[in-house]
Amino acid sequence: MKPVLVVDQLVKHFGALVATDHVSLEIRAGEIHALIGPNGAGKSTLIHLLSGTMQNDGGTIYLNGHEITQTSAHQRVAAGLSRSYQITNIFKNLSVLDNLLLAVQAHAGSSFRFWSPRQNDDVLLDAAHALAEQCSIDKGLWSRPAGTLPHGDQRKIEFALALAANPSVLLLDEPMAGMGPEETLRLTEMIESMRGRMSMVLVEHDMEAVFRLADRISVLVYGRIIATGTPEQIRANPEVRQAYLGAEA
Ligand SMILES: Nc1ncnc2c1ncn2[C@@H]1O[C@H](COP(=O)(O)OP(=O)(O)O)[C@@H](O)[C@H]1O
Ligand SMILES: [Mg+2]
Repeated sequence: MKPVLVVDQLVKHFGALVATDHVSLEIRAGEIHALIGPNGAGKSTLIHLLSGTMQNDGGTIYLNGHEITQTSAHQRVAAGLSRSYQITNIFKNLSVLDNLLLAVQAHAGSSFRFWSPRQNDDVLLDAAHALAEQCSIDKGLWSRPAGTLPHGDQRKIEFALALAANPSVLLLDEPMAGMGPEETLRLTEMIESMRGRMSMVLVEHDMEAVFRLADRISVLVYGRIIATGTPEQIRANPEVRQAYLGAEA
């Protein structure tokens, strides 16, 4: 199967520190690809380089066969590479549904120009409803100001906002961070329900979630990928166990 996202020999320095050390990675269509590794391994940096919020110093990134290394974060979203931001993207005073409507509208672009404004409104509203349902946001919350929702529900809105762009690859940097066990489980189930609809690159510390969700796992240590494989292969890899998983595995 042809990979959707190809990363070839990516390099990022912060002064003398090599945060991303010739990382090569292939994300397959529809797979959930987890990225794990100790704190400071360079996981967030890699997500920034992929989303275009940070510029790399070397290497190449291809999305659906096209090189995107020099493109802006906005252009990457338009090309199908989205990132779910943590809460910061939400308009807290607007209702949940208005947040989703704005996102749907922003990404609809000129595709609705042949229709009447009234038809547009219906189509946009349908799309916003569908997003809210996909992300299991309770209907009773849709008209509430987004900022008043519990943390876990705001995370779901973040997801929905990223999905509005209809991405072929969704980047997730620690979506479970700061969540209790119940919220973590619900978010895990929501991600699970989206399996196959797009590829996901998932950075996550919660190993239970990682091993449940990931089709494949890459292990990052000191900016280098030391192993890529199925959860079973990663669990059984002695180098990984020594470098990272330790007694937990
Ligand atoms: N903006 C930055 N400026 C300087 N150093 C940074 C910056 N961002 C990250 N680093 C350093 O790069 C390394 C990788 O960080 P990061 O990608 O955040 O790791 P992780 O997400 O795996 O915990 C760390 O040593 C961190 O201190
Ligand atoms: Mg990080």
